[in-house]
Amino acid sequence: MSNHPIGIFDSGIGGTSIFKEIHALLPLENIIYLADSANAPYGNKSREDILQLSVKNTELLIDRGCKLIVVACNTATTNAIAYLRQNYNIPFIGIEPAIKPASLNSRSKSIGILATKGTLSSALFHKTSDLYAKDVKVIEQVGEGLVPLIEAGQLHSQDIRDLLKKFTLPMIKAEIDYLVLGCTHYPYLIPELKKILPSHVTIIDSGLAVAKQTETVLRTKQILNNEASTPKIEFYSNGDISILKKILNNQFPVSYLNF
Ligand code: SIN
Repeated sequence: MSNHPIGIFDSGIGGTSIFKEIHALLPLENIIYLADSANAPYGNKSREDILQLSVKNTELLIDRGCKLIVVACNTATTNAIAYLRQNYNIPFIGIEPAIKPASLNSRSKSIGILATKGTLSSALFHKTSDLYAKDVKVIEQVGEGLVPLIEAGQLHSQDIRDLLKKFTLPMIKAEIDYLVLGCTHYPYLIPELKKILPSHVTIIDSGLAVAKQTETVLRTKQILNNEASTPKIEFYSNGDISILKKILNNQFPVSYLNF
């Protein structure tokens, strides 16, 4: 079991920001990544649709022998992870916006969160926010339109810059000192965000925390791969694989798969 792959799925290429952290921390692990780009974005879909897509991705990864699945998509985590945990007998790691560290460390007591509509309207997000952000002002912003542009490989286009300016203006006015990225696609926008935000604003995403949690769970369940052979890393996309290849700097094999 320990040399079985870790499965990772996302609505597209965003979860590669999580993959990179996991691969860096756990370089011996075999990994299968599914980019459901044909169905991106998940962020505006109904809870039922997000659940159905998450089940489809999960079953494909389980069929391929995955020992643990990382739901590398905030929208799928907040809407589907409870169901997946109840219905499949392997561990699931989810991505939750890093509201807790931002709230605890904020000096201005004002933080921003950029996420999809699906994440910001979910019960899990509200629970986390109520629990950890009681004493801070949280400026919530739906990143409407960002995911399709990122999926099209537009990380530095004028359209992206205009949207980011529009979305962060209310946050800057509210004097945030932390911006939480609540979507795994958004870390690819950090270079553009840094040009817009005041320099004292810290941008946080969940990548490293998720990689550490993955390691902890594998260790606890005694299924860490200790075999010192070259890991097998496979990427599958049901969309345009050229974008995925580019974002991975052509370092890993990427195949088209109709799923
Ligand atoms: C999306 O597909 O809309 C974004 C995925 C995410 O929430 O991480």
